Amino acid sequence: MKGEIGEVLISERRIKKRVKELAEEISRDYRGKSPLLVGVLRGAIVFLADLMRELTVPVEIDFMAISSYGQATKSSGVVRILKDLDEDIRSRHVLVVEDIVDTGLTLSYLLKSLEARHPASLQVCAFLNKKGKQRIPLEIKYLGFEIPDRFVVGYGLDFAQKYRYFPCIYALKPGIYREA
Ligand code: IMP
Repeated sequence: MKGEIGEVLISERRIKKRVKELAEEISRDYRGKSPLLVGVLRGAIVFLADLMRELTVPVEIDFMAISSYGQATKSSGVVRILKDLDEDIRSRHVLVVEDIVDTGLTLSYLLKSLEARHPASLQVCAFLNKKGKQRIPLEIKYLGFEIPDRFVVGYGLDFAQKYRYFPCIYALKPGIYREA
C-alpha cells in the first residue's frame, strides 16, 4: 500500500494552524448567527469535525452525499444526490464544507441545488483547491490551501476508499492515478 504514497504535501501542523485561522474568520463573519454547516460525504468529514470544534458560533451540521454518473458525466457536470439534507435550509445561513475542488463541477451542481431552496445565505468553505483546474468559476469564500494538480489523499480524502485516515495530506506517486 505504501508503494502508492508519495511525499507529504501538507503536514499535520500546517493543517491545524490553517483550520484554526479559517475558524476564526468564519466565527467573525457569522457572529450573532447560527449557520448550518453542510458537509459533503465522505471526504469532508475530517475537515468538518476539526473546523466545527474551533468555531465560536453555535453551528448545526447536516450532510449530503453525491456521486457522478460515471466517466461521461465528469465532464458534463451531472451528479446524482445519493443522500439529501435532513434539514430544511430555507432562510438558514448555509456554509458548504467541501474536501477538495478540482474542476468545480460537483460543487457547482451542489450549489445550484441548494440555492433553489432559498437559504438566507450560501457560502463555500473548501479545504483544498487544485490550482488552475477549475472549469467553472466558483467563489470559494474560505479556502484552506491551494495545491498543485496532483492526486492527494489523507485528512478525509481517498484513493479507491483508502487512506482517508491519514492525518496529513500526501500526494500519490506519479502514474498511480490516471484520469479517464
Ligand atoms: P470536481 O467535481 O472535479 O471538482 O471534483 C471534486 C471531487 O472529486 C471531490 O469532492 C473529491 O471527491 C474528488 N477528488 C478530486 N480530486 C481529488 C484528489 O486529489 N484526491 C481525492 N479526491 C479527489
